Amino acid sequence: MNTIGLAYWSSTGNTETMAEAFKDAVEAKGGNIYFSSAENMDKEAFMSADVWVFGSPACGTEEINDTDIEPLIDDLGDKLKGRKVFMFGSFGWGDGEYMETWTADMEAKGAIIAADPVTCLETPDDEALGKIKAAVEVLLG
Ligand SMILES: Cc1cc2nc3c(=O)[nH]c(=O)nc-3n(C[C@H](O)[C@H](O)[C@H](O)COP(=O)(O)O)c2cc1C
Repeated sequence: MNTIGLAYWSSTGNTETMAEAFKDAVEAKGGNIYFSSAENMDKEAFMSADVWVFGSPACGTEEINDTDIEPLIDDLGDKLKGRKVFMFGSFGWGDGEYMETWTADMEAKGAIIAADPVTCLETPDDEALGKIKAAVEVLLG
């Protein structure tokens, strides 16, 4: 079973709710997860996991969070090459365009998108939380 490292950022709690649902689903399956907000994370613990999971809402103009998540990804740099990753987050309008850009950026860095990214409009509903659970099934392997 793959181990998971999850780093998230959330300002009003929507992405955090998705992160908590992800963690609960991993633990319900008996999986091993290192879980932290990006600002408080232990990078070594995160990096020792098999699959790297990132949560960020849409910020700026269809961008990911630029105080913690983007610097973390920049810092991981070449280590993303060949690494299984998964991304999720909440957005406020439109169709979650930021996730398409983010996915393309991660692929350009050589990461393997190990499960379809999950987005939702504002507060995650049951459908979004169900997609998070389904992603966990795929990612644990
Ligand atoms: C400064 C700011 C910029 C935002 N930019 C976008 C955006 O470009 N596209 C979008 O869909 N939502 C945008 N939003 C809305 C948030 O992504 C949305 O409210 C989301 O649910 C917040 O998630 P969180 O509770 O995890 O922080 C923005 C919100 C703020 C405060």
